[in-house]
Amino acid sequence: MTVTRTVAETSLPRLRLLRRGKVRDVYEVDEEHLLIVATDRISAFDCVLPTQIEHKGEVLTALSRFWFERLARVTPHHLVTTDIERMPGSVRESADVLHGRSMLVRRTEVFPVECVVRGYLVGSGWKDYLRTGEVCGHRLPPGLRESDKLAEPLFTPATKAEEGHDENISEARMREIVGAEATEHLRDTSLALYREAERYARSRGIIIADTKFEFGQGGDGRVLLVDEALTPDSSRFWPAGRYEPGGAQPSFDKQFVRDYLETLPWDKRPPAPPLPPEVAAATTRRYLEAYHLLTGKEL
Ligand SMILES: Nc1ncnc2c1ncn2[C@@H]1O[C@H](COP(=O)(O)OP(=O)(O)O)[C@@H](O)[C@H]1O
Ligand SMILES: [Mg+2]
Repeated sequence: MTVTRTVAETSLPRLRLLRRGKVRDVYEVDEEHLLIVATDRISAFDCVLPTQIEHKGEVLTALSRFWFERLARVTPHHLVTTDIERMPGSVRESADVLHGRSMLVRRTEVFPVECVVRGYLVGSGWKDYLRTGEVCGHRLPPGLRESDKLAEPLFTPATKAEEGHDENISEARMREIVGAEATEHLRDTSLALYREAERYARSRGIIIADTKFEFGQGGDGRVLLVDEALTPDSSRFWPAGRYEPGGAQPSFDKQFVRDYLETLPWDKRPPAPPLPPEVAAATTRRYLEAYHLLTGKEL
């Protein structure tokens, strides 16, 4: 018999659920703290699948923690602890479900922009480039290929859409939304974080093609890096050894999932079909491998 150890959804008796995202459940702990719980849910083509991926929540949590600590020289962050034993009693009560997948964080006022950094030309950036020769107001040289490395990483903010896709905006538009001072700070910090993380990940065999950061302002006015950081869910990870510009690259984590789903007649609208056990298991192995490659440790 196999024991299923995945968590599809949490419901904590003593905490108020603020938000259930595609992957994470967010609870209010007290006025100053939130609990962010990474479940084992997985989404593909913007739909949450009915199948969970064993160890995914743990990998997302451990990897975020790794990056927060590693990048603390670049920016302060919101993480207080991932150790359940050091969390309040209202959280410890549910330790069995939460263990390894939970971050106690400082609650902030989140800036309503996604701070995207792109080091390579893919996704909506590639589409915009084909159409206009620009990516979010940055004019690029002609003749670039899909997945090409950019001469310099680009800061390409987006608005946070409640439903559907985020909308790319120019830096000028971002200034109107959050102000000039915050725009400059978030841009410079995002670029510095990306450069540092990209350089490190590349030395470990992973290309971080692009990523998305979020920032928030704490009660004391300090700007903190919040949310998750540099996980496969917030970034595009590619195996560096197989990098071949001129087309789409295999995705480190979800390639098996996407390849499988592409074989089905599914129209990519909910409800999404379940994954066969071998596809789910292969995906678990990819998440664990990403963690191992990046941190040099086993989960
Ligand atoms: N320190 C923090 N303070 C306040 N809100 C936060 C903090 N960290 C993350 N969040 C918010 O928690 C939410 C997490 O939801 P998420 O799992 O990202 O859902 P989605 O699938 O919609 O992206 C986001 O709205 C994010 O802005
Ligand atoms: Mg999010």
